[in-house]
Amino acid sequence: MRILAIETSCDETAVCVIEAEGDFGHDFTFKILGNALLSQTEIHAPYGGVFPNLAKREHEKNLVPLLTEALTEAEMLQEGGGDTSTLAATLAREQELLPLLTAFLEKYGKPEIDAIAVTHGPGLEPALWVGVNFAKALADAWKLPLVPVNHMEGHIVLSACEQEKDNDQYSRLKKFKFPLLSLLISGGHTELVLSKEWMRYQILGQTRDDAVGEAFDKVARLLGLPYPGGPEISKLATEAREQNLPRTVELPRPMIDTDDYDFSFSGLKTAVRKVVEAHGPLTESVNMEIAREFEDAAADVLIAKTMRAIEEFDAQSILVGGGVSANTNIRNQLASSIKDYGYGTKLLIPPPELATDNALMIALAGYFRALKKEFAEPSMIRANGNLKLTQ
Ligand code: KG4
Ligand code: ZN
Repeated sequence: MRILAIETSCDETAVCVIEAEGDFGHDFTFKILGNALLSQTEIHAPYGGVFPNLAKREHEKNLVPLLTEALTEAEMLQEGGGDTSTLAATLAREQELLPLLTAFLEKYGKPEIDAIAVTHGPGLEPALWVGVNFAKALADAWKLPLVPVNHMEGHIVLSACEQEKDNDQYSRLKKFKFPLLSLLISGGHTELVLSKEWMRYQILGQTRDDAVGEAFDKVARLLGLPYPGGPEISKLATEAREQNLPRTVELPRPMIDTDDYDFSFSGLKTAVRKVVEAHGPLTESVNMEIAREFEDAAADVLIAKTMRAIEEFDAQSILVGGGVSANTNIRNQLASSIKDYGYGTKLLIPPPELATDNALMIALAGYFRALKKEFAEPSMIRANGNLKLTQ
């Protein structure tokens, strides 16, 4: 089965084509045929975070060039236009996208794909709608079924996959057992999710305020660092460790001892603000110390709750997903805590370059949903900023 996937939930516009076969537990393999991504981070940097209407406009501008790029790479772009009579109605709210997609569909014919997968939530609704309406327009023009995908499920499925060592084009699922505990850490989410079966989820706990990635971004801003803050904080924290700077900054570990699986990161950000205000002008070494202590505080809380959930639910495999799982310190600390825990508990972690948003993760989750025939009537698919993972 060939899947074309579209991701526009936040500030990455991405299109991917995969060819996959098999099922979970039955020789699942896939090949990436075409993969294109454009990050808007530089455009949002002056705002210190993602500006939803700007993201919407950028997705509108970039989707057709990225679709062209992905299909070209997949060698699926063929001359021969089709019917565009219903496009104007489908893209009534995407006036910048409309002429670009009209020109594309007048020039190129239907590629050899079997279904279109699209992120319909969670995320920023104005951004999500662009991808959803784009997918509806393509499905309509090419008479293809549509699979709505939960973005968080995309992060999970991607972390569960690996590439074969001897052939980097063909990839498969890692070997793991249930219960599977997933720690999802991104710009919009901090969740601990339990799966007793493939693609079924019970949310054990989540953040009560800011997501951990959001805290990284806000703390970076307090330190005068550009958006996105995660990689910037990580760089400074690593330097602080390498230089073995003294520990003069102390930050709280919010909710580390509470008897639940919820998180809270806004207090941590406020604590950083107080340290910054007390310090006067920030020197490079104070910045490094704050970054290291903040990263340690976030890692401590994430790991303490994850370890407690492993024990309570007897999790056999632990999965980490989402942009913050690119963080070296969090990856290393989690890996060593799980190793110390013993029992051969397995850690599933994405390659750092695929931890942040991309369309491959949507193609993979879309494939498994398509196998279950979870297609949706185009008129029934709505962008849902608060979409939850379900049982
Ligand atoms: O999954 P993602 O790309 O988008 C959402 O679904 O939200 O995650 C983006 C988040 C941003 O907050 C970014 O600062 C954070 O992931 N991030 C990192 C690192 N790389 C990206 N946080 C900590 N360390 C990193 N190396
Ligand atoms: Zn994400």
